Amino acid sequence: MERILSGIKPTGNLTLGNYIGALKHFKDFQDSGEVFIFIADLHALTLPIDPKAINDNTRDLAAFYLASGLDPKKATIFVQSSVSAHAELNAIMQNYLYMGELSRMTQFKEKSAKMNDSAIGLGLFAYPVLMACDILLYDADIVPVGEDQIQHVEITRDLANRINKRYGKDTVVVPNYRVNKVGARIMSLSDPTVKMSKSDPKGDIFLKDPMNVVRKKIMSAVTDLGSEVKFDKENKPGISNLLTIYASIKEISIEDAEAHFVGYRYGDFKREVADAVIAELEPFQQRYQQIINDKSYLAVLREGAERASKIANVTLNRVKKAVGLLDVYGE
Ligand code: TYM
Repeated sequence: MERILSGIKPTGNLTLGNYIGALKHFKDFQDSGEVFIFIADLHALTLPIDPKAINDNTRDLAAFYLASGLDPKKATIFVQSSVSAHAELNAIMQNYLYMGELSRMTQFKEKSAKMNDSAIGLGLFAYPVLMACDILLYDADIVPVGEDQIQHVEITRDLANRINKRYGKDTVVVPNYRVNKVGARIMSLSDPTVKMSKSDPKGDIFLKDPMNVVRKKIMSAVTDLGSEVKFDKENKPGISNLLTIYASIKEISIEDAEAHFVGYRYGDFKREVADAVIAELEPFQQRYQQIINDKSYLAVLREGAERASKIANVTLNRVKKAVGLLDVYGE
């Protein structure tokens, strides 16, 4: 059975980009494969974050996972820091990714460019090492992510191939990324030439936004010259982004979405996009709220950590042995 693994960082408010690019699709794998979905809380520490924020966001994310339709009987849902194998494998793997390749990572370049050198933590630079460990520990075959994480899965493949070449071909499994055909990169509503990200309140739709705010944000999304609802990323980035959002939510192709809106004016088009997003987010929020209130996510995370640890420790021990670390409890 195929192993599928993905995670989200508990930083800031989750956006419609996170939902469409990743979260919404995790459940699609749980009937056909073995699914591991985790909260990347150690990764959240790579930029300054308030202790209460990371704690609250972790709870939110657990509830979002469950509200998205992930079934804890089928999928293993856990918090990264509760499975110590992640940090242990990281201590080994940090020796096999190199300064040159890490400094070329887009995410590192973008995040560090906004910071003073003296404030950039080692964890931000070494981020892809820990992410690779997250993936390799579960022998993951498939890693569903949005477009911005492809590079990190690719460096994980480089690392896995390097390890297998040096220590034997079955030491770790080489993973593949999976991005959706539609919606792998949702853009900001206020500037459709940049990605929707957790730190852009104007251009974001947050998963916790009240429905009237969602509608308002979509109705005031930046559109383009002309009046035709057509998918054209170059000349109509705003309309194309809204069409992408609509197609992803409705689970139809861009062509079908375009065909649906032939002859629409921008205003009516936006109204229908807003209706579609609201029809999806409103029941999702209700499920989220119930799970937050009844705290049922806690037992799920505890059980998830136990299941995940068992599997992760098998890989960790295999790697320790391969690189020559002595198991004082074994032979
Ligand atoms: P994070 O928390 O930044 O984002 C979570 C997921 O959402 C996707 N995403 C988007 N998709 C479409 N449009 C957007 N505007 C958009 N913004 C974000 C991301 O691509 C991602 O799939 N490094 C990861 C977390 C992580 C991880 C892992 C993921 C840690 N270890 C192992 C997979 C496997 C991150 O920061 O995602």
